[in-house]
Amino acid sequence: MTDWNKSSWRTKPRIQMPDYPDQAALNAVEARLGRYPVLVFAGEARRLRKHLAAAGRGDAFLLQGGDCAESFEQFSSDMIRDTFKVMLQMAIVLTHGAKVPVVKVGRMAGQFAKPRSAPTETVDGVELPSYRGDIINDLAFTPESRIPNPENMMRAYTQAAATLNLLRAFSTGGYADVHKVHGWTLGFTDGERAAKYREVAERISDTLDFMSAAGVTTDTAHTLQSVEFYTSHESLLLEYEEALCRQEAATGQWLAGSGHMIWIGDRTRQPDGAHVEYASGVINPIGLKCGPSMEADDLKKLMAKLNPDNEEGRLTLIARFGAGSVNDHLPRLIQTVKEEGANVTWTCDPMHGNTIKSTSGYKTRPFDSVLREVREFFGVHAGEGTVPGGVHFEMTGQDVTECTGGVRAVSDEDLSDRYHTACDPRLNASQSLELAFLVAEELSSRRTKTAAQAAG
Ligand code: PEP
Ligand code: CO
Repeated sequence: MTDWNKSSWRTKPRIQMPDYPDQAALNAVEARLGRYPVLVFAGEARRLRKHLAAAGRGDAFLLQGGDCAESFEQFSSDMIRDTFKVMLQMAIVLTHGAKVPVVKVGRMAGQFAKPRSAPTETVDGVELPSYRGDIINDLAFTPESRIPNPENMMRAYTQAAATLNLLRAFSTGGYADVHKVHGWTLGFTDGERAAKYREVAERISDTLDFMSAAGVTTDTAHTLQSVEFYTSHESLLLEYEEALCRQEAATGQWLAGSGHMIWIGDRTRQPDGAHVEYASGVINPIGLKCGPSMEADDLKKLMAKLNPDNEEGRLTLIARFGAGSVNDHLPRLIQTVKEEGANVTWTCDPMHGNTIKSTSGYKTRPFDSVLREVREFFGVHAGEGTVPGGVHFEMTGQDVTECTGGVRAVSDEDLSDRYHTACDPRLNASQSLELAFLVAEELSSRRTKTAAQAAG
């Protein structure tokens, strides 16, 4: 990739990106952002790559989740804490079930720009440009709000920096100490899941007590008292990405300084397009969304372009086909990966193929479809003898009513109660935990089968 540079995407077809009316204002913001510190460091991105490589081999499991779209309006430290907390809870449930380390990656601290299905939106006969995420324009349905404003990039950067600062404090400052496993409860004060979580927490506490009594805590104390938590977002607004792209002095390699992992959306994955070009030149782990329209030929080209040296952990394929469609698409793409002898980490996004319009008019996702897609994903991998390496989903620690179903069932009529997402419907804390228990069961039955095969 000799002709790559951080601006080479500008020579390729660009879609899903705004046309800023004020070019001078845009240039000024890019220059300013270009002098600001990066949010993440190259060593962290490399470390995450190692973890993702392990997930690809079945020696770890990726838990990636957070907002569909982060919002300026709903930004608060409580919101960050609650999302972080739910991810810790889920990770505990998964680690306990899977008996492998869980790699925790938030859709946080940069997940602002959104691809849209249509360039405009019509309400009561009025047509306006679509909302494209707070980093680009505003949600309010007025002509002024929908004009792309480059200053929003500065605000997004500031919010991302503040978010990451708090996440780093939570990760290492004692909050994530596994000895506090009982305290991370959120969103399930009653019922079966709560009892199940307490049971898991109890067993972990017992183990910790045993280890402490046996004197094994000293060497590993640090590992248990902190977590590694990484950030990720869709690399969609390339002006922002480029401004935070920096060359590492020691190696000459380029880092996307906007987040640890970046991914390419299902709508912007054209092998010769701008988004693939940009991602191809940075050292970060790259995610690639794979929807039903992904063809073998494209996947081959994308793997060659995004991971020419076939390195483990570089490329995560995020399958998002929709419940009932996984069997039509995942086996053929696994076949393509096998034919190419490519190293990839397979994960399942059970959200984006399951969005429907509810009878009450809200965009929603039936929780049953989400669970079903996860089961189908595990089923196909079991059949193919390949590794289900992780899950990717949209969730929040807040008690929202955006997806229907779950143990504390949210009905179509309930959606209007607490529907706060700026974009797609998210799982609430209780639904997220329920999902974690399902995934843990799938993982532990996979372990049992793999062990039986090894023995027999
Ligand atoms: C997303 O992850 O929010 C998204 C838009 O996904 P996809 O590109 O898979 O549709
Ligand atoms: Co989304």
